[in-house]
Amino acid sequence: FNTNVQFFIAAYLVGGIPFGLLLAKKFAGVDIKASGSGSIGATNVLRVVKESNPALAKKLGIATLALDALKGVTVLIVAYFSGVSEATLWAISVLAVIGHCFSPYLNFEGGKGIATGMGVMMFMLPYETLIALVVWGVLAKTLKISSISSLTGVMALLISSFIIHPEMAHAPVVFIVFILYYKHIPNIIRLLKGEEKRVV
Ligand code: G3P
Repeated sequence: FNTNVQFFIAAYLVGGIPFGLLLAKKFAGVDIKASGSGSIGATNVLRVVKESNPALAKKLGIATLALDALKGVTVLIVAYFSGVSEATLWAISVLAVIGHCFSPYLNFEGGKGIATGMGVMMFMLPYETLIALVVWGVLAKTLKISSISSLTGVMALLISSFIIHPEMAHAPVVFIVFILYYKHIPNIIRLLKGEEKRVV
């Protein structure tokens, strides 16, 4: 444990960096916490910046998605090449998602964890994540509602992990999915009421 503690701290501190908030403020001059869904992820960057500058919105949305996804992966790669155990890699994954969702830089508030979660999952469970991305892509294209597409994709990942890797310890995946769903409670309530905002 002692030799891994630096990776755990790094995962939480790097995971907590709110790239969407920073990019939207710097390049579009908007506070995404005060507009749209109030979320700090790629979806809300796209949604809010689009009102004033659609071309910039796309660029900033993609940059947010990529940077948020890379946060946990970066720490995972360094840890992996240091020869840590599988359990340590899972702990790093969980902590990166916790960092993003309960950011130390935002009074322990934060994002909804989809990009950061999918990033670490791409490293830990690539086949399951590809399935999740296909499900997400098809739903996002047809429904144009980010939350339901993300939540269904995440569920597809969890279910496929039981099919593709029945032997693995599923607790970390279940826990990450739980955090992601927990952070989407306002979205789930809006979806049930038929009031969820579309991205476009
Ligand atoms: O990844 C976040 C997405 O699922 C929902 O974002 O801004 O619509 O609440 P938002």
